[in-house]
Amino acid sequence: MATIEGFRVQNFRALRDVALGKLSGEQAGEPLTPFTVVIGKNGVGKSTLFDAFGFVADCLATDVETACDMKQRGGFERMRSKSVTEPIRFEIYYREAQNEYPITYELAIDLDANGRPFVLSEMLRQHRKNQKYDRPYPFLRLERGKGSVWAGEEAIGDSEEDSASSPVEITDPHELGISTLGTLKEHPLLEPDRNVSPSFGKFRDGLRRLVMMEDDL
Ligand SMILES: Nc1ncnc2c1ncn2[C@@H]1O[C@H](COP(=O)(O)OP(=O)(O)O)[C@@H](O)[C@H]1O
Ligand SMILES: [Mg+2]
Repeated sequence: MATIEGFRVQNFRALRDVALGKLSGEQAGEPLTPFTVVIGKNGVGKSTLFDAFGFVADCLATDVETACDMKQRGGFERMRSKSVTEPIRFEIYYREAQNEYPITYELAIDLDANGRPFVLSEMLRQHRKNQKYDRPYPFLRLERGKGSVWAGEEAIGDSEEDSASSPVEITDPHELGISTLGTLKEHPLLEPDRNVSPSFGKFRDGLRRLVMMEDDL
């Protein structure tokens, strides 16, 4: 079963910086279980915590601007914590299955010069044990729509950022890379028959299933 073992939310409504469970690079946190319970008095941000997942799910299903304007969210300015000018950030630490290595997905959303929310940065990494590298293995790294994708396990060379990476550019700054790249068949590294595909469509679909939760608080 796919599980979220930890997450961090920053600058999202009442949640200035909240981390739960186990995160990348932190030995201390205990992984969340499927029965994690959130308790707190009214107004502390329980529903907000759930909508953080709902928001990421909507970003994956549509785009960040549409997700900001959906439902009761009221747009980016109302979603960013009051008196904060930093981006809204999410970090999700999850496993596709118990026998698979954990993945960290990081997302930062900010306002552009025209006051429209856009994807500031995105990173997808897998934490593989016994690898030559002590750093997590990257699949995708994007800043303002530009960055690199890495081909996958077969292509690991002597350095983390070796020739297996390929530059990518996302044309729509409101779309998530893992959504866009999941459908970008023409990119040589992403062709299914090349057998080197990191299959961003798989990451997107897996993450979407994980973040679709019901708020009953
Ligand atoms: N942009 C924002 N910045 C800071 N706080 C906010 C923002 N938007 C809403 N809040 C606060 O979030 C709280 C509501 O959180 P909510 O998740 O509904 O709480 P709960 O579900 O625990 O009752 C309110 O106190 C509200 O003032
Ligand atoms: Mg509530």
